[in-house]
This record gives sequence, structure tokens and C-alpha cells, in this order.
Amino acid sequence: MANPSVSTILEDLAAAGKAYDQAEPGAREALIDRSRALVAALEMPSEFIQRSFWAEPALSAIIRIAVDVKLFQLLRDAGEAGLSASALAAKTGVDVVLLQRLTRHLVAMYLISFHHGAFHGTPLSDQLAADNYQDSISFCYDTARPSFNHFPTFFQNTHYHSPPVGSLNGPFQSAHRTPLHFFDWLVAHPPNLPHFDSFMSAYRAGKANWCDRGFYPVADRLIAGFDTTNGDGVLLVDVGGGRGHDMTIFTQQHPTHPGRIILQDREPVIAALDASAAPTTSPRAFTAQAHDFFTPQPVAGARAYYLHSILHDWDDARATHILRNLVPALRRGYSRVLLNEIVVRDDRPTLAATSMDLMMLAHFAVRERSAAEWRAILAAAGLRVVQIYSYPGVAESLIEAELA
Ligand SMILES: C[S@@+](CC[C@H](N)C(=O)[O-])C[C@H]1O[C@@H](n2cnc3c(N)ncnc32)[C@H](O)[C@@H]1O
Repeated sequence: MANPSVSTILEDLAAAGKAYDQAEPGAREALIDRSRALVAALEMPSEFIQRSFWAEPALSAIIRIAVDVKLFQLLRDAGEAGLSASALAAKTGVDVVLLQRLTRHLVAMYLISFHHGAFHGTPLSDQLAADNYQDSISFCYDTARPSFNHFPTFFQNTHYHSPPVGSLNGPFQSAHRTPLHFFDWLVAHPPNLPHFDSFMSAYRAGKANWCDRGFYPVADRLIAGFDTTNGDGVLLVDVGGGRGHDMTIFTQQHPTHPGRIILQDREPVIAALDASAAPTTSPRAFTAQAHDFFTPQPVAGARAYYLHSILHDWDDARATHILRNLVPALRRGYSRVLLNEIVVRDDRPTLAATSMDLMMLAHFAVRERSAAEWRAILAAAGLRVVQIYSYPGVAESLIEAELA
């Protein structure tokens, strides 16, 4: 990719702005991408270092404090009146001098605003006040950031070699001084498991979903042809589905879908889900089942087995093992395997794909895969790709596969 001139980027921005006004899919993401390109083209080295290495680390540290003292919730609840520095100091318990210094930086970074003598939330900070984003901030700061901070030391020690694929001696283990796999460490170190589960439920929120119109043709590929002769038939099994956020969205998008929906995850995740269900809440649109995906799939003959961001956590051998555990459950010519995963492209890497690839390197010593690599691990399990569906502005694609 050649370095674009400022005037070229401005032309791109204008075009993306027009597309945004027309509500074209992907236009908002293109505007953000081009805005980043504009900053990169304009910044001098001193400004780049100031932003990347002081302003942004300070911003994320202050936001982590904001979680502890519920700053965004207080500003959201104050509404248009906002809160003066002394009122905010009294409510958060942060001394007023420190509070003013921290919040001033949040204003400078456009996260909150200050006018008429009071601090105010912005649409962004008001949304960040929601529990799932607050937990996501804690996960990213407490768990992920130390792993990234540890990259230089870790790779100096490996003489700049990748850790062995899937190794239990990667940047995460080194940063957190643990021999445990990431998923076991989350369980062993409360409250990191609920923080991670919230992060998974929230990090793509607002993006187009695989089951939205124009992405994967659910009506044609899943609902048409669903076997209604078995009154108890299963439409979808969400394997490693976390708290079931994808299945909740699916049932909202397709409320008249036939068949049952089953959510599977590890026992601690399902137990936490059951424990959090208030007795008064309406019944879930899916059944939750504890299942270890390294063991054979217990639900046979479903229309589809859906794995979202599952195989990217594992090296090829273990990813193939997970797929092979599905194979005996698949009905030939009927059952589909749906992988919702990033498909890496060298020609046009996106920030969403590269940052997730580095998240995988940091925490699992694995990688995001190209289309050829996806085809290879599916083939190793006796499956074949039917089609890969993508959507503008969405990092992940829907890979539909079936028995080879
Ligand atoms: C990256 S998260 C993806 C969650 C969800 N599918 C999504 O995309 O939001 C990986 C999920 O795999 C689950 N998991 C990890 N090991 C598992 C195992 N052996 N059996 C079943 N689920 C497992 C985790 O608990 C977690 O919910």
C-alpha cells in the first residue's frame, strides 16, 4: 500500500462522508479508517510519540480508574446539568485536585466535555457506563494490556522467534507469571472470568451480525430445508457460545425460526449464566448445556453447529480436534458447520484483524488464519468449505462448511 498524500486522504474522506450520509454499510468504518490515515499523514514524530506513548496510556489508565469510581455512570445520571468538579470529587471520593487533572485529560481526548462550569458525559462515555463495557475495560486493562506490555522483553528472550504454536509459555503466561492456559487462569483468578465473558459479549456490539439481512442468508441456508419431521429438532448449536449473546441476537432477528437452539460452553460459564438468571426474567430463547468441545458433540443431527471465535483460540491440531468432535454428529447433506471467524488478507489488513491477531499471539500463542488455512484445517477434519460470506466493515466472515 503506497503512502497516500493528505489531499488523497481528504478526497477519500469526502467520498466516505457521502456514503455515510446515504447510510451505506461500511461507510462509518471507512470514515474512521481514513481519519486515522489522516492523523498518521499529518503527525510529526514528536506528536506521534506524545499521543501514542503518553496521551493514550494515560487515557486508558484514567478510564480504568473511572470504572472503579463509577465516573461515567455519575456523569450519565447527572444528565444535562452535569457535575461540578467538587460535586464529582465528593461522589467519586477522588480528591478534587487529582480529579480535575484526570478529567481534564478526558476532556482533551474528547471522551467527556466541560462547559458551563460542569463536566458532562458524551454519547460515547454514557454508553461506556454500561456494565458489559465497564467489565470489558477491566479485562483489557488488567489482563490484556500486561501481555502486550511484555512483548519487548518476551521476544528479546526468544531472540525474536514466535512462541511454539499453542504453547503454554507465551507472552500472557510470562506477563502474568503463570503456567496456566488463559481460560484456566480466568477461572482461577476472579473476577477475570466474568470480565472476559462481558468483553466477548460486548466487543463487537453495534456491528452487523452474521444473521443480519445481507450477511449470511439464514432463511435460505438454515431455515429452508429444516427437518420438521422431528418435532424436537435442533436448528442451531452455539458451541462455546459464552453467555449466549449471539443466540439472543439470532432469536431477535428470526423470531419465527423453527427448531430448538442450544448454547454450549464450559461448566463455569454455564453455571454463572444459570446463577445470574433472575426468577422473574422471561425464559431464555435457548437451552444452555455444559459441554467441553474437546469431547464428542452430544447433540446429533442439528441443522447447524455454530462456532464463533472458537477455532482462532487454538493451534491447528487442537482446532482440528474440536472439528473432528463435531463430525459424528453431522447428518450428511443436511448439517452445516458455521465458523464466524476473521479471514486474514495480506493485501488489505484491517486494524480489527491485525489487533485480534496480536491478541491471539499474546494470549494463546496462535494466529488468525487466511482462507487457505481455514480450508486446510476443515479438510483435515473431513469437512469442506461451501462458501465464505463477508460484510462491509465487519472483521469476521461466516465460513459455511459441510461434510466433504
Ligand atoms: C473467544 S470466546 C468466544 C465466545 C463466543 N462464541 C463469542 O464469539 O462471543 C471462547 C469461548 O470458548 C469457551 N471455551 C473454552 N474452552 C472450552 C471448552 N473446552 N469447551 C467449551 N467451551 C470452551 C470459553 O469459555 C469462551 O466462551
